[in-house]
Amino acid sequence: MNDISQFPYGISILEITYILASVFFIFGLKMLSHPLTARRGNIIAAFGMGLAIIATILFHKRDGEPIGNIPYILVAIIIGTVIGLVIAKRVKMTAMPQLVSFFNGMGGAAAALISMMEFPHVSPDLIAKSGMANGHVLAILLGLMIGTISWAGSMIAFGKLDGWIGDLRVKALKYVNLTIFAVLIGFIVFIMTRNVQASAELTPLIYIMFAVAVIYGVLFVMPIGGADMPVVISLLNSFTGVAAAMGGFLYNNQAMLTGGILVGSAGTILTILMCRAMNRSLLNVIVGVFGGGGQTNISATGSVKEITVFDAAVLLSYSKKVVIVPGYGLAVAQAQHICHELDKLLEEKGVEVKYAIHPVAGRMPGHMNVLLAEADVPYEQLIESDEINPDLTNTDVLVVIGANDVVNPAAEDDPSSPIYGMPIIKARDAKNVIVMKRGMGKGYAAIENMLFYNDKTRMLFGDAKTTLQNLVNEVKSL
Ligand code: TAP
Repeated sequence: MNDISQFPYGISILEITYILASVFFIFGLKMLSHPLTARRGNIIAAFGMGLAIIATILFHKRDGEPIGNIPYILVAIIIGTVIGLVIAKRVKMTAMPQLVSFFNGMGGAAAALISMMEFPHVSPDLIAKSGMANGHVLAILLGLMIGTISWAGSMIAFGKLDGWIGDLRVKALKYVNLTIFAVLIGFIVFIMTRNVQASAELTPLIYIMFAVAVIYGVLFVMPIGGADMPVVISLLNSFTGVAAAMGGFLYNNQAMLTGGILVGSAGTILTILMCRAMNRSLLNVIVGVFGGGGQTNISATGSVKEITVFDAAVLLSYSKKVVIVPGYGLAVAQAQHICHELDKLLEEKGVEVKYAIHPVAGRMPGHMNVLLAEADVPYEQLIESDEINPDLTNTDVLVVIGANDVVNPAAEDDPSSPIYGMPIIKARDAKNVIVMKRGMGKGYAAIENMLFYNDKTRMLFGDAKTTLQNLVNEVKSL
């Protein structure tokens, strides 16, 4: 009987499906780069992954035999799918960053588990078959190290974003981390130079290496706080991709390899962009060193001045240029729709309205873009902070809605501040500033913001959604 899994020239259905899946990943990723196509891109990439999983179950052969344990695999898939669906459906938009961190950690854990499962089975036979000699063992060890760091680090990032883990700012940690990292590299060199035929005897070392990698993952994320979390989140993301790609090498699985490389390279590019946006060095990120000393010298002086909703409506309606700076509070209040209603009303009155988007505003990369896209704010109205900053001196009113750290002048004025050096939206350059927030609460970096005490600033206190609704009503009545 013909083997239906085999095409002419020795290409198998499995290989063709993996190539197809990879094409879906690439198209999906490309579509993620624009808010209008992102949702479809996500579905297309997920479809590619589904295809690769089904094809593996149906067509993968081990020593010429189909894979076993199919009932267990199906039960695991069903349990994972149900848990994933329920969590993703129930999660509040504001808890999305923690969820992303958690899921990213699961990817790292899976890659580490693969390495721990496979190492004891490394045999000269297997190595000869894979044709990679020591590359096989190296892929296992790197998968273990990077996957474990990604899992442990992501769990700490999850706790920090959820607010139940604080920062551990100890200067010596930099040297401790460098030492632990060197130890991990030492493990890899040691195991690589042993006789791989004795892999079963070396297995206990793998568990010790796993424990050391957990300690490194925890310690390198622990000191990170203030405004620096975005950089570490994207770095952990790229780690998971690289760890998955190691699994692709190991199993000679093209879909896993392409998926891992795409996540790894996209995460690396994002990390570099985030480092630039935050003015941080990549090496410092890897050993867990961040920002200024962590203790800001600035304490609140002067008084804050308030503005009424009516006065704010008048000021905005009779302006020529208005810039809105959205922040985390806009997402918390779910005020994006009413915010867009305000900007449309103002534009109808002849006011030019733009949004200033800071790369780390909110709690996840692109948070403000996603939020405003949900409210159908035209993409052309969103301007990156470095592009809009030179224009702010000509701006009549800058409206800060639920943002804090991204407009905090301490990033420019106070070298001891944990956000020092981070480029900000230069709100104080505008002619007038209106700040909408509930009270004098601090931002994520938990530091004082002198913008609120600036002579040009007027505070409009209240929940962003309620305040914006009142403002829309006043603007309509003018
Ligand atoms: P934050 O600095 O976090 O400030 C948000 C402000 O919103 C708070 O000061 C709060 O003041 C106000 N707020 C909260 N709920 C509100 C509501 N319902 N209505 C009105 N205001 C409300 O936000 P940001 O300026 O967007 O900066 C983001 C920060 O998070 C940065 O430090 C960034 O590094 C960090 N971070 C970012 C990411 C990514 S990837 N973007 C990830 C992790 C951390 P009140 O309590 O007084 O209302």
